[in-house]
Amino acid sequence: MYKALFKPLTLGQIELQNRIVMAPMTRNRARPDGVPAAISSKYYALRASAGMIITEAVQISEQGKGYARTPGIHSSTQVAAWEQLVQTVRSNGGTLVMQLFHCGRISSHHNKAPGVDTVAPSAIRAQGQIYSDGAGMVAFDSPRALRTDEVPTVIEEYRQATENALAVGCAGVELHATSGYLPAQFLSTGTNRRNDRYGGSVRNRIRFVVETLEAMASVSGADRVGIRICPGNPFNDLTDEDPGSTFAQLLQAIDPMGLAYLHVIRLASGPLDNLALVHRHFSGPIIYNDGYGAAEANEVVRSGRAVAVSFARHFIANPNLVSKIRSGEVLAGFNRKTLYTPGPRGYTDYQ
Ligand SMILES: Cc1cc2nc3c(=O)[nH]c(=O)nc-3n(C[C@H](O)[C@H](O)[C@H](O)COP(=O)(O)O)c2cc1C
Repeated sequence: MYKALFKPLTLGQIELQNRIVMAPMTRNRARPDGVPAAISSKYYALRASAGMIITEAVQISEQGKGYARTPGIHSSTQVAAWEQLVQTVRSNGGTLVMQLFHCGRISSHHNKAPGVDTVAPSAIRAQGQIYSDGAGMVAFDSPRALRTDEVPTVIEEYRQATENALAVGCAGVELHATSGYLPAQFLSTGTNRRNDRYGGSVRNRIRFVVETLEAMASVSGADRVGIRICPGNPFNDLTDEDPGSTFAQLLQAIDPMGLAYLHVIRLASGPLDNLALVHRHFSGPIIYNDGYGAAEANEVVRSGRAVAVSFARHFIANPNLVSKIRSGEVLAGFNRKTLYTPGPRGYTDYQ
């Protein structure tokens, strides 16, 4: 069944055995120091039949950490643990792409090493709360605005994280540019009130993302770099006066770079037709996401609109999603209560 999903695919330097991509999912199993848990090797290896696994979001620095028990790829112990994990997944036939993030203002000092501050494009605190293991639900930190001369340092951290991810055997990296984290904070008028070269006009607001992609591409080519976007996404208190125009200009700017792929969340409940928007302004390979089942995914790939479709929630309780789609088997549901809890329950115990 669903033949289009089973055709191999090449995205830049990334080889996919099929077009069923595992979407990035934060699962909060890492150690407090950001070292991925030993059980995460098993979690990803069980899902190695995906055409490509995009990892959970991985922080590029301690300052970029937002959530409890999320992994990083900036310390030598983190890098060593990733190396083992990636080797295990590869020896099971899997292809891993690491999603890189910096949470910016979506953070609490409770979740970071002592003394590490929270930064953002502008000193505007996000409405809402974030979970911490030490103090339960707490307000987001009031961020400090990054100085102009600090911005290149953050971009360099993305470059270094890319170098680390590729060195441990990842086939590529994905810039997380949605969900209210730092790149999205630079893009959006509600979070970016800067008056230097990184704020104000759309051209200035997209600069951070463009320069970050260039830095990531400098490591081993743009064709090992993807970007994930969701224009109009209000998650984590994100607002933009005109996301249609912001993303049109961003896409036009990155289109000539020759990226491996663009990963778009369609967000049916959002203010824009995200799929129409990306096709209008981006000519490279596009991966669709959000709420797809096998039949609809097969149809968008068969018709050539998407090169692949990514699935998040279906992969939680169906590690063998690929074979289930092939045979038309009914998919299992997952337990919400164990999505973000430490340990193997609800993580490596789904068959
Ligand atoms: C438990 C969970 C964790 C997620 N973590 C991330 C993440 O780290 N990075 C990201 O870009 N999206 C994340 N997402 C969003 C998913 O990648 C995806 O966009 C969303 O679930 C819609 O796809 P689906 O309908 O196939 O589940 C997460 C979603 C879930 C359910």
